[in-house]
This record gives sequence, structure tokens and C-alpha cells, in this order.
Amino acid sequence: MSEADPMTLTPPAKPHLPDAQIVTSVKHWTDRLFSFRVTRPKSLRFRSGEFVMIGLMGDTGKPLLRAYSIASPAWDDELEFYSIKVPEGPLTSRLQHIQVGDEIILRPKPVGTLVHDALMPGKRLWLLSTGTGFAPFASLLREPETYEKYEQVIMMHTCREVAELAYGRALVEGLKDDPLIGELVGDKLSYYPTTTREPFHHMGRVTDNLATGKVFADLGLPVMGPENDRAMVCGSLAFNIDVKAILEGFGLREGANSDPKEFVVEKAFVGDGI
Ligand code: FAD
Ligand code: A2P
Repeated sequence: MSEADPMTLTPPAKPHLPDAQIVTSVKHWTDRLFSFRVTRPKSLRFRSGEFVMIGLMGDTGKPLLRAYSIASPAWDDELEFYSIKVPEGPLTSRLQHIQVGDEIILRPKPVGTLVHDALMPGKRLWLLSTGTGFAPFASLLREPETYEKYEQVIMMHTCREVAELAYGRALVEGLKDDPLIGELVGDKLSYYPTTTREPFHHMGRVTDNLATGKVFADLGLPVMGPENDRAMVCGSLAFNIDVKAILEGFGLREGANSDPKEFVVEKAFVGDGI
């Protein structure tokens, strides 16, 4: 028997997708929410708070891509994402099944308005979100610049149920023991999670807690104003519209990368028919 050619015994290498990254960990938080980490392309530079297009190869051989906020900070060696599971969703009905070692597609072109550069200097930074709108703030909460630029940071996150707050709560709780950022965070961060459809120690929509002044009273802070307060907003379109009106009522103006002002807004997702 002739000696086998070692080349023929090697299984063919798995074909790599264009812009492929490898999944390094996956954690399921509820039956509708999960987070995962992937390798980071060496060339990818981004500002904490930005989003990229990620996805999987579709059945037709074309990539199926969706916008995703990068939930990890700019200094992290890997990239983290926090995702919804839409049962019939073209991407997430499949993405929710990814496992360590799988490949995803990542287009390395970060963009977005939830960045420090889009806000004028201020004293207090308000991060206002619902649901997966927490994702860009998971990046900014781990970004040293957030605490270097502001005396106080207030993270308001609202979900229907307590279990949906778990990713955010775990992240915030981990900050104080984080060797890189823990000391910088110190006592600057106030975390204000609320639910709307299940009893919890703090309840109510972000909009109601701002408009009634409850959050200011609870945290012992003055009512928001354009001199000291800055805000970043990320939720459904309806949430963003309602919060924007309240912030404008406090005298804050909407800014952009090219025109920094007192608050910035980004959609957490594009709703049905919008
Ligand atoms: P799609 O066909 O895209 O969506 C189907 C329906 O599901 C939508 O019409 C909407 O009603 C609902 N839906 C979609 N996404 C969400 C969501 N996040 N929360 C609640 N309902 C939703 N999604 C994330 O999970 N994490 C992110 O960090 C994230 N960042 C985004 C950033 C931007 C700028 C935008 C525009 C969207 C972002 N999305 C994010 C939404 C994401 O792009 C996809 O819509 C989502 O992954 C679902 O994809 P799909 O193909 O399964 O369903
Ligand atoms: P509510 O339970 O009162 O509708 P959803 O799961 O529908 O995306 O909502 C996530 C959270 O955002 C829920 O707590 C919901 O409150 C709240 N919410 C939905 N729409 C608005 C809005 N227009 N303004 C403020 N909060 C909102």
C-alpha cells in the first residue's frame, strides 16, 4: 500500500466569507435577547457608540446584513453585540443560533451619531434607552472618555419586564470591578433601570420619569437644562420622537457629528412599516 499523501488527508479548509469574523462567545439573556462576541478585524477603528453592518450569508449566496450597534468599547480586542431575536426575522431567526467558532459577516465601516464628538462639553451625560437601545451605551459606559468628559453619567434603561434588564444590569455591576475603567467610573455613574409591565423598585417610561421630574427627585439632581446637561437617545422611533420633544422642552437642541449640540438621537431599530 502506497503511503498516503498527507495533503489529501487534510479536510478542505472551511471557505471564509468576505469580511468574516469568528464568534468567540454567546450568552442568552432571555428567549428574546442574547449577546455575543466576535474577533475584531485589525484594521477596524471606531468611536464608542457607533454601529456597523453585520450578518450571515443568505440562501441565495448574497450576504444578509443588518445595522448593529457595537456594544463593546473602542479599546476592546474583540467586538460585542447585543441582539433581539425576532422569531420570523430574516437575520435574527438564524443569528440567534450562532455558536462559538461560527463565522459572521462584518462590514468594517462604522458610523453613527451617538458619539462624544456630536455633543458640546457639559457636566452631566444622560443615556436614555429602551430594549436593545442599550447596546451603544454598553460601549459608551465602558469608554474612559465618558467619565473624563462628564462629572456625572445617568443611564436610564426601560423594558417591559425585569428579565429584559439583565444584560444592562450585569454590565453596570461589572464596571466597578473592571481593572481598566473601575476607578474612573467611581461614583460618577447613576443607573436608573425601570420596567413598565412588571413590578420593580423603579417603574415607568423614561418619558414619564423625565416629564414628571421623578428621576430628578429620585437622584437628587436639578431638572435638565441646556447649560449642564447632555443626552444621547436610542430606542424605537416613537420613543425617540417623544424623548426628543421632552429634551427640547428642557431647552436642549439636537446635534450631529458635523454640528455638536446638547443631545443626539439614533434609532435602535426600524419598526414595521417605518
Ligand atoms: P428585521 O426584518 O430587521 O425586523 C423585523 C421587525 O422586528 C422590525 O420591523 C421590528 O418591528 C422588529 N425589530 C427589529 N429589531 C428590533 C430590536 N432591536 N428591538 C425590537 N424590535 C426589533 N438590533 C439589535 O438587536 N441590536 C442592535 O444593537 C441594533 N442596532 C441597530 C442600529 C441601527 C442604527 C438600526 C437602524 C438598527 C439596529 N438594530 C439592532 C436592528 C437590526 O438592524 C435588525 O432589525 C434586527 O437585528 C432584526 O433583524 P431581522 O432581519 O431578524 O428582522
Ligand atoms: P410600555 O410598556 O408602556 O409600552 P417595546 O417592548 O414595545 O419595544 O417597549 C420597550 C419599552 O419602551 C417598554 O417599557 C415601553 O413601555 C417603552 N416605550 C414604548 N414606546 C414608548 C414611548 N413612545 N415613549 C416612552 N417609552 C416607550
